Amino acid sequence: MLVLGIESSCDETGLAIIEIDDCGASVLRVEVLSSQVELHERYGGVVPELASREHLRNLPILFEQLLELTGYTLGDIDAIGVTCGPGLKGCLLVGVTFALGLSGASSVPVLPVNHIEGHILSAQMHYSELQAPYLALVVSGGHTEIILVEEVGRYRCICRTQDDAAGEAFDKSANLMGLGYPGGVRLANLADSFQGTSEFSLPRVAREIESFSFSGLKTAVSLLIKKHAQDCVNDQELISEIAWTIQDAIVDAIVYKTSKALSSHNIPLVVCGGVSANEQLRNRLKALHEDVYFPPLKHCVDNGAMIAYAAACHLQLGHEFGKLDIHSRWPVESLESFYGLS
Ligand code: KG4
Ligand code: ZN
Repeated sequence: MLVLGIESSCDETGLAIIEIDDCGASVLRVEVLSSQVELHERYGGVVPELASREHLRNLPILFEQLLELTGYTLGDIDAIGVTCGPGLKGCLLVGVTFALGLSGASSVPVLPVNHIEGHILSAQMHYSELQAPYLALVVSGGHTEIILVEEVGRYRCICRTQDDAAGEAFDKSANLMGLGYPGGVRLANLADSFQGTSEFSLPRVAREIESFSFSGLKTAVSLLIKKHAQDCVNDQELISEIAWTIQDAIVDAIVYKTSKALSSHNIPLVVCGGVSANEQLRNRLKALHEDVYFPPLKHCVDNGAMIAYAAACHLQLGHEFGKLDIHSRWPVESLESFYGLS
């Protein structure tokens, strides 16, 4: 059985085909991805209207590529999983409409998939030994949450951001430092080049509340940068020291909440989403917990394979999919009723 996955919730267009073999194992056959980072860079953030148009342009091209790479035809595909949320409405609409077009031409069912569930399950796609229950730390440009995975389709939110996501905190800080967009990686690289001990400190945010919160940190970062703006001219060491201080504060906030969650749930930890590429975060989480899983980097960021895989998991479990619609917000804990599991 072949399942096509379509991802278009933000600024990456991703397509992939997963095969479920006779033993029920899922094998990734092919995947293609088109990133819009360059397009949005000059605007300092994702422009939803432009992103939707880019998906519209890319989807037929990528689908053709997918078929060319494999020799499959549309008639070989048995089901289409498509991201229906959370994400930018226009972008989601383009992906769902494209899926419906393929379905109209081939009578293949279109299965709605939750983007965050895709991120969470991407670890299971790579580590066959990983079994629920486990905790999933989802840290990306749009989301920061810790989810208790009881089984596929049954999720409990332990902790979620009440304002910015961790990736946004990286990107906004990088922007304040004049590092461009998306500057998370650039800030991280600068931070990792710092060898000494930082003389600066930033507040340890949101320790006393249940949720993540990064908006207060943004204000503190802005003050720190303004205070040292003059000194930073031609002082690369100082710039790296400030970057290190910012990275340390963001990573510390993530690790603190994760550590709290692990203290009441001593189970495996999955870390996914773009920020999980961060070396300092990886090292601190590895030191914190023995049983930690990071999907390969190409599947930490948005991609079509995780969407195909999530659809394949629900198909294999015989779950009834809920109504096809788009949702700009779609908490994973609501999936239990979406799949009729409650
Ligand atoms: O999951 P993702 O590719 O896209 C979504 O937001 O859904 O995550 C992108 C985010 C951006 O905010 C980017 O700056 C951040 O992940 N990011 C990093 C690193 N690599 C990517 N943040 C910190 N350190 C990194 N090495
Ligand atoms: Zn994502």
